[in-house]
Amino acid sequence: MTDRELMEEAVKAREYSYAPYSNCHVGAALLSKDGRVFRGCNIENAAFGPTNCAERTAIFKAISEGVRDFEKIAVVGGRGEQISGHYPPCGVCRQVLREFCPDTEHFVVLLGTPKEIKSFTLEELLPESFGPDDVTSI
Ligand code: THU
Repeated sequence: MTDRELMEEAVKAREYSYAPYSNCHVGAALLSKDGRVFRGCNIENAAFGPTNCAERTAIFKAISEGVRDFEKIAVVGGRGEQISGHYPPCGVCRQVLREFCPDTEHFVVLLGTPKEIKSFTLEELLPESFGPDDVTSI
């Protein structure tokens, strides 16, 4: 699947965003190594704290269906109808991605819009990260 196709999947995922409080609508599309796409949107809550980001929705959907090997994720977001050119994943989502993407230099994060795609490795977004191996080696 091309980067642009995955971004388009994230745009579709964004349609289901539930964001009545921030009006920031976010969609994510996570591509697994076996070629499946898991879509996620942000899901807000009146108590604010339970809000779940689009990226984590997509990751948790995949994990809960037994899929753990991933290649890349596309994220799009913006206020109202607008898709911003840059809607980077929050720190919590980066850390959750880290858990399942041991090869952080090869796992790719696509940001921007389907027309203007910026790509980053997870290593660039979360350098010197703390991962599963660190728990047992210290
Ligand atoms: N949000 C995401 O879905 N992903 C991120 O990585 C950053 C923030 C959502 C959470 C909340 O619903 C809205 O964007 C504003 O923070």
